[in-house]
Amino acid sequence: MKTLIIGSSGLIGRNLTSQLAEQNESVVCMDLDLGATPDIDGVELVQGDVTNFSEVSQVIGTHEPDRIVHLAYLVGRGALQDLSLSLRVNLIGVDNVFRASVEHNVPRIIWASTLGVYSSIDYDDKLIVTEDSPRPYSPYTAFNTASYYSALKHMNEYQALLYSSREDLDICAIRPSTVFGPGRYTGYPWVGNFVEDAMSGKTTNVPMHPDSTFGLVYVDDVVNLFEKVTMAKKLNFDVYNTGGNLISIAEIVETVNTTLGGNMVPDTSREPTFQFNISHERAHEEFGYDILSFAESIKRHSSLIS
Ligand SMILES: NC(=O)c1ccc[n+]([C@@H]2O[C@H](COP(=O)([O-])OP(=O)(O)OC[C@H]3O[C@@H](n4cnc5c(N)ncnc54)[C@H](O)[C@@H]3O)[C@@H](O)[C@H]2O)c1
Repeated sequence: MKTLIIGSSGLIGRNLTSQLAEQNESVVCMDLDLGATPDIDGVELVQGDVTNFSEVSQVIGTHEPDRIVHLAYLVGRGALQDLSLSLRVNLIGVDNVFRASVEHNVPRIIWASTLGVYSSIDYDDKLIVTEDSPRPYSPYTAFNTASYYSALKHMNEYQALLYSSREDLDICAIRPSTVFGPGRYTGYPWVGNFVEDAMSGKTTNVPMHPDSTFGLVYVDDVVNLFEKVTMAKKLNFDVYNTGGNLISIAEIVETVNTTLGGNMVPDTSREPTFQFNISHERAHEEFGYDILSFAESIKRHSSLIS
């Protein structure tokens, strides 16, 4: 089976590329900047821009993939830096991938949504959010600066719904929680470097109150779910949560400071914020998918650095 990974230089894309290549799958990679895409024998690399329909269509037409994993995006606050560019990459880019997939009869497209599409649900610490939980769309929440990114992902979910129903396209979304792992450069700054900082004796300032809760998931687990959804012959659903370890910032700081000798410092002047408990039971039942605990995750991450 041949998989085209679009956004192959990113945190998830580059790890998925290595993982699929290790399984001897045929992989083609596309990114605007191939600099961080792993250079692996047999993996074809194509420089290309998702905002350009003819480039997307050409790579699909030339390589005829059985699966496309679409990960090219301006992530988190990156979506706010250049509003026009983020509309082109995050909305038109997604449309280009879906439209070109219709044109070339691609059997399945897997794309990354986000836990952010649940952000307008009224908070309740007992609530366990599943893929079927209602996802109210609030213009206020969507257009404040923290969640513009989530607004675009909401729109991507509509795009996927329309293409899959009108064009009979097999489109599956994965909704990751906040992902961490080696070489995260985009999105939340502190999430990208807290393990590296701890290992090199640097302070990590966490701009969150210690009582805040946060759901982190390790990149290997997220890649594992992308791989399972990519390789499955048949899928029971068109969306799967990755889930994450919902813990307090105080617990994250304590675990990193004691086990890695880090110096993470939360910000007590901020108001606490709370994330939902997001279930990955659906993926567990269908694929036997599970996630590492936070302590196991930082152990694995730090072992790659030392
Ligand atoms: N990392 C997370 O915590 C997280 C959480 C939820 C969802 N997601 C989603 O998963 C996907 C991948 O995330 P990631 O963390 O790997 O992102 P990333 O920022 O590490 O990588 C994105 C990649 O897209 C590429 N790209 C950007 N513009 C492009 C263009 N015009 N044409 C071609 N390539 C382009 C970049 O060069 C980069 O390699 C994104 O859709 C993201 O929104 C990520």
